[in-house]
Amino acid sequence: MPDPTLPIGKEKAVFVREMFDTISPTYDRLNRVMTFKLDQIWRKQALNSLGLQENSYILDLACGTGDFVKLARLQGYRCVGTDFSTGMLSHSKLSNDLVVSDALNLSFANNSFDAITCGFALRNFTELPPVFRELERVLRPNGRIALLEVAKPSSLVMRFGHGIYFNKVVPFVGGLLSDRRAYSYLPASVNYLPPTATIIEMLVKAGFSNVSHKLLISGAAQLYGATKV
Ligand SMILES: C[S@@+](CC[C@H](N)C(=O)[O-])C[C@H]1O[C@@H](n2cnc3c(N)ncnc32)[C@H](O)[C@@H]1O
Repeated sequence: MPDPTLPIGKEKAVFVREMFDTISPTYDRLNRVMTFKLDQIWRKQALNSLGLQENSYILDLACGTGDFVKLARLQGYRCVGTDFSTGMLSHSKLSNDLVVSDALNLSFANNSFDAITCGFALRNFTELPPVFRELERVLRPNGRIALLEVAKPSSLVMRFGHGIYFNKVVPFVGGLLSDRRAYSYLPASVNYLPPTATIIEMLVKAGFSNVSHKLLISGAAQLYGATKV
């Protein structure tokens, strides 16, 4: 059940866009520091899970400053990124193929991509089913998706340490180096995420099969995979 103090609907969309515009100048640095660079390992795992051939065409949804796009290109894929925060896009180190659009209404034609990646954005969308329908629409038949999100580790000890780190240290360090409100929203926003079984059901309803879910290294991130029917 979402926290009643968190914004929902249109209010959430405006809040999220403004927040990412605000933190965009320091976003990359803080990401690396706060995840001990695990974020890049998780992105690599997500890309590898797609089992793509060289030159495949990927959409990175909610690409932020373009980390996934950069990695995908380094691995020999063609990749375009899209995000609704112009601040995040303008702080990317990439000079081409970053497009402003909303995940609920993507500005791409049907069946355009071989695969879609999405990093740490599911909890930021106002609703998941319309986003999943958009992913299904722009993906070619048999195309694959890899959706990364933060997670709570399954082991009790790891979960305890992670809870202190994520709920106390992240807002404190984020407040010192960037914006306290934004880095308090980060742990709180996990409450937006529906249970795993519900997300899997939503993906199936949107037209995906072979839906998989796993916790990644350290247990602090999770990966959903699926194939367009
Ligand atoms: C936590 S950041 C992740 C950025 C990037 N994917 C990464 O791996 O670092 C979440 C991103 O989702 C974007 N976002 C949130 N809601 C969106 C929407 N409805 N349409 C497009 N982008 C959205 C935000 O602007 C932000 O850049």
